[in-house]
Amino acid sequence: TVRPVHTVQELREQVATWRVRGERIALVPTMGALHAGHMALVTAALAHAERVVVSIFVNPTQFAPTEDLSRYPRTLQADLEKAAMAGADLAFVPDVAEMYPAGFATTISLSGPALGLETDFRPTHFAGVATVVAKLLIQAEPDIAMFGEKDYQQLQVVTRMARDLDMPVRIIGVPTLRDPDGLALSSRNIYLSPQERNVAPVLYRALSAAASEITGGADVAASVARARQTVIAAGFELHYLDARHAETLAPIATPAEGPIRLLVAAQLGATRLIDNVAVPA
Ligand code: PAJ
Repeated sequence: TVRPVHTVQELREQVATWRVRGERIALVPTMGALHAGHMALVTAALAHAERVVVSIFVNPTQFAPTEDLSRYPRTLQADLEKAAMAGADLAFVPDVAEMYPAGFATTISLSGPALGLETDFRPTHFAGVATVVAKLLIQAEPDIAMFGEKDYQQLQVVTRMARDLDMPVRIIGVPTLRDPDGLALSSRNIYLSPQERNVAPVLYRALSAAASEITGGADVAASVARARQTVIAAGFELHYLDARHAETLAPIATPAEGPIRLLVAAQLGATRLIDNVAVPA
């Protein structure tokens, strides 16, 4: 299995020994409960770096009081084995006190791609994500850091933050890994009942249909409206389904305004699912 270190000092010592040998270092931030989607990030990292650090930290500041922090799956031993199988070199597994010492008082304030979509339903989520990701990037000082397109708004928020704060790291997005029926792999899929699991791929199918309609010249708003109807008719409680500029995430009405990304969040029973697809030009 991969070696776990629990303190920033141990992390920095290991990274420093690689750095003096001229090895490039990749960071793959995760909250554990690793699945094939996380492993795809490690695989992608190995195309750019000799060494891969996986961080495993269930970050309390990105969960609202009503969310699933306490029941978030924690599977450290299995995670260390999966990280090793994927080719990672080190796991950074800090506890909450290591990341948030007494008196912690600093949070990154976001605008741009953090506005709307997830923020309408989870207003403090991305401030928690950005702050912990900034800390991890400062702690590990990687050359590159990998983020899944599965959490597309998160990827854009982190990319914008790294650029705005002149962080010396390249943020790399990795395509979403899906089950054969199209459902995006997620740690939260284990909460779906068998019936809900059958319905869940409707999200991807609705987005994909809208994307090909738009590519074929259909009106963006009309295709988005049809996709919303499909999702609602399947039994989801729709949080949002929108067409946005693929980088700024600003609302977009026509393909002439820039590359389009379609993003959805919807609740199926007790489980909230998100997904997104590109609209090919
Ligand atoms: P977590 O949900 O564990 O996800 C860790 C990384 O795996 C994220 O970059 C996410 O986009 C990626 N990922 C998850 N499912 C994926 C899939 N099916 N295909 C490709 N990539 C996938 O996202 C977080 O943790 C946290 O917010 C974190 C960035 C670690 C900050 O706490």
